[in-house]
Amino acid sequence: MSGLPPNRESFGSKFGIVAATAGSAVGLGNIWRYPYVVGENGGAAFIMIYLAIVIAIGIPVMLSELSIGRRAQQNVYGSFRTLAPNRPWYLIGLMGVVAAFMILAFYTVVAGWTLEYLYQSFIGGFHEKSAEELGSMFNSFIGSSSRPLIWFFVFMGLTAFIVVAGVKNGIEKSTKILMPLLFVLLLILIVRSVTLPGAAKGLSFIFKPDFSKITAETFLMALGQAFFSLSIGMGTLITYGSYIQKRDNLATTSLSVVATDTMVAILAGVAIFPAVFAFGIPTGAGPGLAFITLPNIFEQMPGGTVFSVMFFLLLGVAALTSTISVLEVIVAFFVEELKMKRGAATWLATFSVSILGVLCVLSTSELADFKILGKTVFELMEYTTANVLLPLGGFFIVIFVAWFFGRDKAKDELSNNGTLKAHYIPVFLFVIKFIAPLAIAFVFLQGIGLIDLK
Ligand code: TRP
Repeated sequence: MSGLPPNRESFGSKFGIVAATAGSAVGLGNIWRYPYVVGENGGAAFIMIYLAIVIAIGIPVMLSELSIGRRAQQNVYGSFRTLAPNRPWYLIGLMGVVAAFMILAFYTVVAGWTLEYLYQSFIGGFHEKSAEELGSMFNSFIGSSSRPLIWFFVFMGLTAFIVVAGVKNGIEKSTKILMPLLFVLLLILIVRSVTLPGAAKGLSFIFKPDFSKITAETFLMALGQAFFSLSIGMGTLITYGSYIQKRDNLATTSLSVVATDTMVAILAGVAIFPAVFAFGIPTGAGPGLAFITLPNIFEQMPGGTVFSVMFFLLLGVAALTSTISVLEVIVAFFVEELKMKRGAATWLATFSVSILGVLCVLSTSELADFKILGKTVFELMEYTTANVLLPLGGFFIVIFVAWFFGRDKAKDELSNNGTLKAHYIPVFLFVIKFIAPLAIAFVFLQGIGLIDLK
């Protein structure tokens, strides 16, 4: 294509693409958010809805994003502006940049918690503590302000450090080893968790659906969780798609990423819920669920300290490969649209995200009573990004590809200009024309209570 910046970075290898993209998708969304949202929304029935949404909506949105990015070779705003000049589609790009600020602000807070838990694992801070004591340990940690603040800044700094250096050499290399290791550790945790006395109740909670607990809100929460976990709906994958070379296969990339992400989420559920029931932790414990449950499991394991150190280290790494992907959205935007240097762009983005981030950190301490629409700043960022901005973004992204980008360009991207056999393209086009946008609109409007079709 003409007019491209000649020295734009791109991913080196196929495996590198999957590692970076799966690195973005797999993170706190799988291990921290997924279990607690499952717990608050009724267990197995929620999980089934979640899986249906991942397949029917998640995959098509992911493919659409990667196609847009690779075609345009631009940041999220620039991509829409390039592909639809003089049309208001760039607004979707701007919305993505705004969403990136909001996600990074609260996500890094939780990422900071993993560092505190890594530190506590090291010094034996969970030793001989009862389930109750581990619960109050978490609450007093997030109820204080200095430690969570310090960890927040440490994590923001780490993220910025890697993004400044460029993604290729640091993170791409390390995630290839660390991600499989996280997987193995989860399997070990599962073995301990399901053999705890009383574990069976946890398994039936996540495998035996009770549909009487389903409401319109449940669908919206599942939709939000799917978008959040897959990193779709705000242009992370448009940005990453722009680093994918023309010879690489977008469909197999998407499928590997979706399969990995979903597997890790399910494994996290299987690790956590048997222990939740065994230790009598309420399923609706909210954002503290994983942080209260996991130390309990480690306490019940031979060599628990070692496993605990490894686990929180890897969770931190998984979070880091996600935070860099969100920061990259903003940095690519600053570099290409505001013509900034990569270094300056990174630090400016980091600084401005931190302002909002500090409000999120303090949401569980000094600012716990400061509420907007009944939610703390942290809760507001989390709820509005996952359940409003991402679905809205995803809706417009599929509409854009289906109705404006055009079937020919979509075909070109998915078949690498006809060199790949891609028999699924007609199905894909049908899904993004009708099924995905209607499903998103329906779940969204029903979930926020604008329509009521029961
Ligand atoms: N998907 C990541 C996780 O599950 C978080 C994340 C990274 C994200 N990039 C995103 C969420 C873009 C929404 C949008 O932890």
